[in-house]
Amino acid sequence: MSLSLPSQLVIAGVVLWVLSSLYQRFFAPSPLDNLPGPKSSSLLTGNLTDMFNRNAWDFHRRLIHEYGPVSVVRGLFGERMIYVFDPKALHHIVVKDQYIYEETPVFLNFNRLFFGKGLLSSLGEEHRQQRKILNPVFNINHMRHMTPLFYDTAHRLRNAISRQVTNGEQEIDMLSWLTRTALELVGQGGLGWSFDKLDSPDPNTLAEFLKAFVPTVSPLFLLMRFMPFFAQIGPAWLRRKAIESVPIDRIKKSIEISDTLNRTVREILDLKKAALASGDEAVTSRIGEGKDIISVLMKSQMEGSEEDKMSDEELMGHMNSLIFAAFETTSGALSHILHKLSEHQDVQEKLRQEITAAREGRDSIPYDELVALPYLEAVCRETLRLYSPIATLNRRTTQDIVMPLAAPVRGKDGKTFTEVPLPKGTDVAIAAWGSNINPAIWGEDAEEWKPERFIQPLREAVTEAHIPGVYSNLMTFLGGGRACIGFKFSQLEMKVVLAVLIETFKFEVPKDKDIYWNFSGVQFPSVGREDEHGQLPTIVSFAKSM
Ligand code: HEM
Ligand SMILES: *[C@@H]1O[C@H](CO)[C@@H](O)[C@H](O)[C@H]1NC(C)=O
Ligand SMILES: *[C@@H]1O[C@H](CO)[C@@H](O)[C@H](O)[C@H]1NC(C)=O
Ligand SMILES: *[C@@H]1O[C@H](CO)[C@@H](O)[C@H](O)[C@H]1NC(C)=O
Repeated sequence: MSLSLPSQLVIAGVVLWVLSSLYQRFFAPSPLDNLPGPKSSSLLTGNLTDMFNRNAWDFHRRLIHEYGPVSVVRGLFGERMIYVFDPKALHHIVVKDQYIYEETPVFLNFNRLFFGKGLLSSLGEEHRQQRKILNPVFNINHMRHMTPLFYDTAHRLRNAISRQVTNGEQEIDMLSWLTRTALELVGQGGLGWSFDKLDSPDPNTLAEFLKAFVPTVSPLFLLMRFMPFFAQIGPAWLRRKAIESVPIDRIKKSIEISDTLNRTVREILDLKKAALASGDEAVTSRIGEGKDIISVLMKSQMEGSEEDKMSDEELMGHMNSLIFAAFETTSGALSHILHKLSEHQDVQEKLRQEITAAREGRDSIPYDELVALPYLEAVCRETLRLYSPIATLNRRTTQDIVMPLAAPVRGKDGKTFTEVPLPKGTDVAIAAWGSNINPAIWGEDAEEWKPERFIQPLREAVTEAHIPGVYSNLMTFLGGGRACIGFKFSQLEMKVVLAVLIETFKFEVPKDKDIYWNFSGVQFPSVGREDEHGQLPTIVSFAKSM
């Protein structure tokens, strides 16, 4: 059997890596071994398969409750990974020493490969520059400006669902609708583009494709850990060839999805450019003052000096990354809110009353009033706390660094310590979910869904913990220089969609279906174990008018 050069390189990379990992495992004991953590009996994968699979919730729960705010988990071939949600350590990881705790090569290469250059694949100065260019798209003024666009989309969604329930209650897959809505909202608000008028009951092709991305890619996690090796070996086209030559359906499917996204983005860009060149008034004036992402980027492209001009490829990388970052997370979070409201009819009714009273017979609730609705805010916060769409985020240290802790921890040798020296190259899992459900901070009822938590004054332990999250003492949107740039955008989307849907419809859980949230890279709802793409079957009817 003869193998192609790319395959040979992949194999050589893997062999090298296995040898170096085995060396680390057996001949290089580490001070990290004194940290609490589960015993791993599998030499091959340690506890990684426990940590990243559909049912990983219980494993994470055990790490959080049995081993506490900092622990060590064994990965592939015994490699060590720090699992941490101590608030002071988190502050150092995402704020103070953020340039030492960098995104992992796997994450960066993966994003570069599938989406191109963008916020999700850059580091350091380049990343800071990109944030500076994109920030105006996400400021409060722009949010206010986008509110009518968001309402317009939400109203179209309402019409589409109304048509389905005119003859009485129906079971509807709300994930499919919310996915389409999330795509349309990032299109309208982010790209100045409409992907889906939401006027057809048939699923939108691009939305379905994108929705399949995370479920398709997540099980590749273990494989993806091999990527850094050949990523360092050859030029980009060779890496791409190597990936394409891997005979695994999931990989082919992932490439197909990212190519479809990239093609769509190319079309949008070409149309905008053509309109600009032909002096199309509507587009030209939009580019001038437009705050959507394409307009901002094209403006920066036109104004940039020759040498630092942004290339089309870069521009497309940004667009791909944004659509991807905005899409799955928001549709997942919205679906989770709807699912909780379906389970808790009392909360749903109370929310409906708040929304109806606030609208006061007007067409919609204006921005400032909408964002100030206390119960709506509490429902969103509590769901984003307990069901953080992204449960853990990975970082790797680029040099030796001491990670301080807020509270002392007892090591396996019985001694307590208040800081952990991490060698260069240590994998660190930021346990966002762990921080959000830490009972020492949120109380013994931390794993219960209680929107009231955010109506009453917050526990002192919460305010005093100084959790470095950008939003509401939560790690859901992270903090520091790589925090979610779209967190306000995302909240506005959720509130607009909820305000419109909850007032019009009543949502209930179907009696004969068990909805299970697949852990995945971004958690998604599914029915039964064989459901690969996710769905949220929901019984929908018109709410009784009050
Ligand atoms: C509930 C919804 C959302 C959640 C939970 C969420 C969460 C996150 C998290 C945890 C990160 C950090 C990733 C990392 O450092 O590895 C992130 C980054 C990012 N998010 Fe979000 N996000 C949401 C919605 C959005 C939306 C609506 C947009 C855009 C419109 C967006 C755009 C981005 C971008 C561009 C980044 C990369 C930022 C950077 O690296 O500088 N996100 N998000
Ligand atoms: C870690 O993995 C080993 C087997 O690989 C298993 O026996 C052990 O229960 C796992 N630990 C936890 C906490 O699940
Ligand atoms: C999610 O669930 C599907 C089956 O429903 C499963 O095949 C897949 O492996 C799960 N994803 C992860 C990341 O475990
Ligand atoms: C997207 O397409 C452009 C060509 O239009 C190409 O240069 C770029 O590499 C593609 N990006 C990805 C991530 O495939």
